[in-house]
Amino acid sequence: MTDGDFDVLILGAGSGGYACALRAAQLGLTVGLVEKGNLGGTCLHVGCIPTKALLHAAEVADAARDASKFGVSATLEGIDMAGVNAYKDGVVSRLFKGLTGLVKSRGITVIEGEGRLTGPRTVTVGGATYTGKSVVLASGSYSRSLPGLELDGERVISSEHALRLDRVPSSVIVLGGGVIGCEFASVWASFGAQVTILEALPRLVAAEDEASSKALERAFRKRKIDFRTATPFQSVKTTDTGVAVTVEGGDIIEAELLLVAVGRGPLTDGLGYEEQGVAMERGFVLADERCRTNVEGVFAVGDIVPGLQLAHRGFQQGIFVAEEIAGLDPKPIDEAGIPRVTYSHPEIASVGLDEAKAREAYGDRVTTVTYDLGGNGKSQILQTSGFVKLVGLEDGPVLGVHMVGDRVGELIGEAQLIYSWEAHADDVAPLVHAHPTQNEALGEAHLALAGKALHAHS
Ligand code: NAI
Repeated sequence: MTDGDFDVLILGAGSGGYACALRAAQLGLTVGLVEKGNLGGTCLHVGCIPTKALLHAAEVADAARDASKFGVSATLEGIDMAGVNAYKDGVVSRLFKGLTGLVKSRGITVIEGEGRLTGPRTVTVGGATYTGKSVVLASGSYSRSLPGLELDGERVISSEHALRLDRVPSSVIVLGGGVIGCEFASVWASFGAQVTILEALPRLVAAEDEASSKALERAFRKRKIDFRTATPFQSVKTTDTGVAVTVEGGDIIEAELLLVAVGRGPLTDGLGYEEQGVAMERGFVLADERCRTNVEGVFAVGDIVPGLQLAHRGFQQGIFVAEEIAGLDPKPIDEAGIPRVTYSHPEIASVGLDEAKAREAYGDRVTTVTYDLGGNGKSQILQTSGFVKLVGLEDGPVLGVHMVGDRVGELIGEAQLIYSWEAHADDVAPLVHAHPTQNEALGEAHLALAGKALHAHS
């Protein structure tokens, strides 16, 4: 006798888990959704949503500071963090309310508490036991640190602490020039803090096309964001006023705070996965392209599965698994087709292969074209610079799209369709793009790739 038997039992209600729950319920399956925190997980409460709210507040601050560029008289008098946090928390709480209502209205049973896999199809929560004909592991990720580097939440903080700061720090060292590091560096610089990024690799956002990294570095330099690439962190000491960080080579840098943004680790420890025979590697759960683990009937989605740790990947995997369980035979997700956006000022957006990876795979058959936003009317109106870079295959489809510039994240949808539908430049070039929009830059770049450039240079 158990406390509940479901068609689908899901461990974790983040983007992956709740998307799976909603879709499974929609398909007529009974669903149990186990969550120790709040519905919505990292993305909604301590990740994507609150960070992007901060980034939007930063954009507003920049607009006030730079108003005279547009002939508008305004001055930026300061940042009221209580007000910024109230705005950010308001966004989160409205979305949370909406999600809670949706989950309830679909008849999903939410089981509050920390779940543990205690049998191949059994999850124990506190003293209660639940079973699922299928079980979906969706326990998410946590902010990692480095060995010996303790996050004290005061001087040495993670992105989660950073979201709760009640002040704008005077200076910050950001350890890690990846997505989280660059987004927070961007926010704090806009809010008036002095920012230094330390990155072990030779460039910022090293997972992106090299041209995107270079463009972001140029923009950050202009914004007086100090960054040191090829500079691994060595140690940190707390001082009376903040932190003193020593980097390899011996330089010491001081600031009020150290943000540690060196990646996120899978939240799988102590959840019973290994004991139940689920194949794992370095804490991640191994799953095939159908999100199946090696244990029959046990699936895994989201940040615990090796690959891009992005909310929308988890979300789509969750939907996929629900449809798989319901027998709809869905098409596996193409990892390269997952769009990636860094919401810094300027933004970076990409989908598909970068130039280096495309050249590795296809050699000389790869052609690239770069359209400068200097020729795009809307970008000039917004006073943003950047580019659209296409990576194409001779007589073949577009392999990758890479963009830099304010608001280019909003263009990634079209780029994703182009990539996912394996469109050729000739298919895209005749499409009519509304004028004046930044989307036109995508059209222009495809005209150039098709050998019909109006304004673009290769
Ligand atoms: P990340 O993997 O993007 O970047 C971490 C950076 O830290 C790397 O560039 C790495 O070289 C550097 N690093 C590691 N050890 C170092 C050391 N000892 N010294 C100096 N640098 C060191 O991870 P991040 O930024 O923490 O983000 C975690 C995950 O969350 C990522 O998978 C990211 O994609 C995701 N995320 C996505 C967002 C988005 O889609 N806009 C926003 C925020 C996070």
